Amino acid sequence: MATPSLTGWWRHIRLRAHEGVFDRARGLLKSAMLVGWANSAKAIIYTFHRARLDRRLKSSPVSSRAPGAFVSAEPSPGGATFTYANATLEVRFLAGGGVFLAWDGAQPMPSYALASSDHDGAEPAPDETSVLAGPHEDGDCWSVTAGGVVVTVDRSGAVAIRTADGKPLRYDPPPRWDGNDWEHRSVLESDAAVLGLGGRSAPLDRKGRTYRLWNSDPGGTYTIGDDPLSLSIPLYLVVSDGGCHGAFYDNTHDGTVSVGADEVTFALTGGPLRYYVFPGTPAEVLDRYTQLTGRPAVPPRWALGYHQCRWGYGSEAAVRGVVDQFAEHELPLSGIWLDIDHLVDRAPFAVDETRYPDLGGFAKDMLEREIHTVVIADPGLIRKRGNPTYDSGRRADVFCRDVRGQIAWGVVWPGWTVFPDFTAPRARKWWSDLYEGYLEQGIAGFWHDMNEPSTFVVTGDGTLPLSTKHDLEGRGGDHREAHNVYGLTMNRAGFEGVSRLRPGRRPYMISRSGYAGLQRYAGTWTGDIGTSWEGLAISLSFTLGLGLSGMPYSGPDIGGFDQHPEDELYVRWFQLAAYLPFFRVHCAAALPFREPWAFGPTVLSQIKPALLERYELLPYWYTLAFEAGASGAPYVRPMLWEHPDDAAMRWVDDQFMLGSSVLVAPVLENGARERTVWLPTGRWYDRSTQQAYDGPGPVTVAAEVDRIPVFVRGGSVLPVTLDGVLTLEAYLPGAADADVPGGTLVADEGDGVAEPVRETFRIEIGADGARSVSYEGPASELPYPVRWVGSY
Ligand code: NOJ
Repeated sequence: MATPSLTGWWRHIRLRAHEGVFDRARGLLKSAMLVGWANSAKAIIYTFHRARLDRRLKSSPVSSRAPGAFVSAEPSPGGATFTYANATLEVRFLAGGGVFLAWDGAQPMPSYALASSDHDGAEPAPDETSVLAGPHEDGDCWSVTAGGVVVTVDRSGAVAIRTADGKPLRYDPPPRWDGNDWEHRSVLESDAAVLGLGGRSAPLDRKGRTYRLWNSDPGGTYTIGDDPLSLSIPLYLVVSDGGCHGAFYDNTHDGTVSVGADEVTFALTGGPLRYYVFPGTPAEVLDRYTQLTGRPAVPPRWALGYHQCRWGYGSEAAVRGVVDQFAEHELPLSGIWLDIDHLVDRAPFAVDETRYPDLGGFAKDMLEREIHTVVIADPGLIRKRGNPTYDSGRRADVFCRDVRGQIAWGVVWPGWTVFPDFTAPRARKWWSDLYEGYLEQGIAGFWHDMNEPSTFVVTGDGTLPLSTKHDLEGRGGDHREAHNVYGLTMNRAGFEGVSRLRPGRRPYMISRSGYAGLQRYAGTWTGDIGTSWEGLAISLSFTLGLGLSGMPYSGPDIGGFDQHPEDELYVRWFQLAAYLPFFRVHCAAALPFREPWAFGPTVLSQIKPALLERYELLPYWYTLAFEAGASGAPYVRPMLWEHPDDAAMRWVDDQFMLGSSVLVAPVLENGARERTVWLPTGRWYDRSTQQAYDGPGPVTVAAEVDRIPVFVRGGSVLPVTLDGVLTLEAYLPGAADADVPGGTLVADEGDGVAEPVRETFRIEIGADGARSVSYEGPASELPYPVRWVGSY
């Protein structure tokens, strides 16, 4: 069934330019009917308004430039400054690891990405042990060395980075400038996989495509290859036989990243040419990157359970009815979500009291059942006198202004809308207070949507005019610089507000848009992913790619956003999402219901094992959340995470690791009843059958519709909840397994700011074959029952 989504309407017009006039007109008509004639007319008006304002943008004179003739190489803190006739290059090793490289005097600050920008704005400290040497090779190049990494700079401005033992990591030819635009290439080893770059509807290995760095609402749905989407992050990881590294270009302007067979090219339309290179394994790269840009916020424990959402439950009574059915079907539920239909005129913060007469009472009742209520909050605020949010925002002068100095406006769900300028500290403070009403009513979490920011248009970019003014922390600038940090700064405001208004508990928020550093405030989701088998596969590569971009907490709308899935697609999607961090069913308005029982008893029985297993594994999930919060390691990881030097694992993208002990092999193909799983070295146990397999190598396993193959590494100790009791599952290692990983449990009350308790376990096999689990933690002896799996 193909029910078009409400949000898909402008996409019919914008993205289907290849269709005939008749098809486009029909699409336009259908879309306009869905969204309503009023908003359609407003979108047309806004599109012209936006174009008119942006005509005032002055283009800068274009003069092409390369570094030019070499002048000098001088030592500077952490490295050296290289001066050329037309440019300078700073190479600075950082005390915490990694190298900062910047042209034309760019410094790490100002930046919205770096965690210190939330506090004192301190620059990362230089590594004073670095040594400048040269000239080498007949006066052609100089080297800067520190911490096992050598950066070589030559007379042309080319930079080569290698490890001290000679592994080449990258070769960056001299950049080029054309006016404000610049282009910077990096040549990589040809066996390299390139990963990351934020939320992308693309295979895990980003090669062979060009990605735009401009957060964009795809307009209701997207499929493979659609780009850009809502969350661009200019960080990529390179994994190759020679060595691994990450590179982060801290620049918020529009641009593209082209990933070729053996090179990556950043082409930006302005802003500083500055980048960080982090040599090391993916784990080391994410550790260092999140040390700089902020550790991922650890969600409360309930956020790792199952969430139910749909656009359009319509009333408190209807939502209560849905929740009751969870109880009737004996299904666990941790979060219930309210979309824009809980609002008057779909206007943020204006709860519709006719349909939700007692939101506080509702949220309280839910909490008594351990169900947490999450509400949506878009940044596009209704432009209507008498609306308290609009009126107070005007009084506080917090809205973005256009190039003429008037309050900028666009069109979003409520109709005419205005947008807070989150790059202004006073606007963040004002916005942060808006959460108070919801928090008083017991709302547990916030869903930040449409914050690219999105506005409806009939052609061109669906966002604010590029000429829109922004405060940019007092520096002043326009939307060309502020656009990509709009979502990031909105989440900063939300995070700071909720932390302040509800002290002692951790904020829970997910955001569709953001920039590098979003992880310190919020998680995300894959947006309006299209309902199809392709969409199912994308939801995996998308989530894994986000994890490698510093965003460990994410997941898809189960079943896809824009259409009603067929039974088997729903089952497979549900099963996959049960092993992804954010586990939520959601869909567009007007689609049939898709709660777990909605497809009938057979489908319910097919998805129930995965739903229950999610709750069994919750102690393990929660441990992974703390691990992500400590080191940036994503909860779900591609196979290459632990095996970056194993070329066979590099290209496996249809299975993944959940932490380091669990391997998940979802079924992504329609009709498949078995699948091949690539097992890394060691013993692996199928968690449901307990059958043991020995890797490395492929095995074919049954995957009937009611089953998603899940394996546990031999030697692991998995903290799980069985029949309500925290239990350790101890999986015996194979006789040949040298490495017995053991396990960890990190836990607290489920929320709060107290230091969590950490306990570690290891399987011990005595000379007589006797087995036991050793324990390190605050208790005097192992406080949990053990369930042994396998034989030794
Ligand atoms: C777009 C979001 O991506 C979607 O999840 C949401 O349901 C709609 N906006 C309506 O709020």
